[in-house]
Amino acid sequence: MRYALVSDIHANLPALKAVQRDIEARHVGGVYHLGDLVGYAPWPDETVAMIAALGIPGVAGNYDSTVAMDYKHCGCRYEDPHQEELSHVSYDWTRRHVSAGTKAYLGGLPFRIDLLPNGGHLAGPRVVLVHGTPTLNTVYWTEDRPDDFCLKMANLAGMKPGDVIAFGHTHKPWHREVGGMHFVNTGSVGRPKDGDWRAGYVVLEIADGPPAVEFVRVEYDLDAAMRGIRASELPDEFAEFLRTGGGVSPGSSAS
Ligand SMILES: [Fe+2]
Repeated sequence: MRYALVSDIHANLPALKAVQRDIEARHVGGVYHLGDLVGYAPWPDETVAMIAALGIPGVAGNYDSTVAMDYKHCGCRYEDPHQEELSHVSYDWTRRHVSAGTKAYLGGLPFRIDLLPNGGHLAGPRVVLVHGTPTLNTVYWTEDRPDDFCLKMANLAGMKPGDVIAFGHTHKPWHREVGGMHFVNTGSVGRPKDGDWRAGYVVLEIADGPPAVEFVRVEYDLDAAMRGIRASELPDEFAEFLRTGGGVSPGSSAS
């Protein structure tokens, strides 16, 4: 079974459209999103409408659940006052511009989805989908987390050797194996932070043997995304952030 896993689209409709075309050509068995459908770009309603129309199931990112609940902030991390200011502008803009229907859709997203590619009548392997971690969608599971952290999260998720957990939130893709379990950060479709501007997602193949994890990068209409941001009340710096893959903006850690 092959799955396409897309995370952190962040209202970047041109990026989502390009990724969708790429996925269609691959004839995967299932497509899932790992949250953060909205925030930072001017197409939150259109992005949610496209995900809903395509029937792509997925989990709630911190941006999704905070917008849906009218929380006081997006649950993002900031490293300096300027970054915090930009983050608040994005969050306030998004809350003011999403429709009631979009809010309801975001509020209805589950926290976690479990897949059993070999069927629920067999014990495994299990693929767990969350946004950040199995406990909170705001915690950043970066590649430099120690093995102990991965094992703790795997235990909390009820995982065993051979299982896979996939998540996003940091916008930087990586894959590690610890204790026979696989930890896959899918990166970001609409706001990568690894210095590569192209939209990122993962094709995960579960067959006999270890899972195969392919990190896919897709070129999209970056100019359209940048024009859309500049034409909106969102900070122009968000356009530059997309162009550089998060490489130069002082807002590089907010998500
Ligand atoms: Fe995010």
